[in-house]
Amino acid sequence: MSYIQVEYQEQVALLTIDRPKALNALNSAVLDDLAAALDSLDLAVVRCVVITGSGSKSFVAGADIGEMSSLTAEEGEAFGKKGNDIFRKIETLPVPVIAAVNGFALGGGNELAMACDIRLCSENAVFGQPEVGLGITPGFGGTQRLARLVSPGMAMQLILSAKNIKAPEALRIGLVNAVYPQEELLPAALKLAKAIAANAPYAVRACKKAIRDGIDLPMDEALVVEEKLFGSCFATEDQKYGMAYFLDKNKDKPAKVFQNK
Ligand code: CAA
Repeated sequence: MSYIQVEYQEQVALLTIDRPKALNALNSAVLDDLAAALDSLDLAVVRCVVITGSGSKSFVAGADIGEMSSLTAEEGEAFGKKGNDIFRKIETLPVPVIAAVNGFALGGGNELAMACDIRLCSENAVFGQPEVGLGITPGFGGTQRLARLVSPGMAMQLILSAKNIKAPEALRIGLVNAVYPQEELLPAALKLAKAIAANAPYAVRACKKAIRDGIDLPMDEALVVEEKLFGSCFATEDQKYGMAYFLDKNKDKPAKVFQNK
């Protein structure tokens, strides 16, 4: 039995964090299963990933407080590294990852969502970094990703106050891209994932890499990253196919299908 359910819908992999009794809180076993699920993805087939939580109440209610309660300083550091390594795996996965945030995204839950490339949420979603109220700092990347995603000032306010925000405020500050009624969230996330999966796979991966690699570089270096990836697309058959498809004015041509070549 795994705490992560993996389901394939065409070229989209849906990962569901499944520990509903603890509102999908991340203990070591859940983290291990998440790492194993990510490692198991067949990237020759999968073109986009969606991550959500089981049930309609919680995405992930944070790292497991029971498990953390007795950690020593060394064990705490190791637990933080474990989470960071797995979330970095998501961030650096070659294909895009969408978080479908279906409820509480607190502490490690918000940090998991922030490691994904795109965040959509349900109307009942609640975001926050409650750690200072527990006597700790965020430990799975929250201090770094929140400041980069929203702004340093807003990250300071959320993290230092430990006050949660609801979906409309998360939308307003740019933490999520869109808010849906609960029953529409997963269909919307899958629809977006399938739209991404229909585009040229090499180009999609190159775009993720360009944005991810470039964002922390000075602009002159970042533009070189883009130039190299842009150039590399011209060595693919999908580029030749995609441009020929546009230039072909035949109204009866078949629907466009990229072959990932
Ligand atoms: N760790 C362990 N168990 C958790 C949990 C967590 N983070 N969040 C919820 N649970 C468990 C509860 O203990 C409860 O278990 P029992 O039924 O066995 O008592 C069950 O999930 C249901 O939770 P509640 O009864 O509390 O549900 P609620 O609707 O009353 O409240 C909630 C929901 C507001 C999310 C509340 O559960 C809560 O505040 N949870 C903790 C949130 C939190 O502080 N997260 C941050 C953790 S620290 C962290 O993540 C560090 C890091 O950066 C790595």
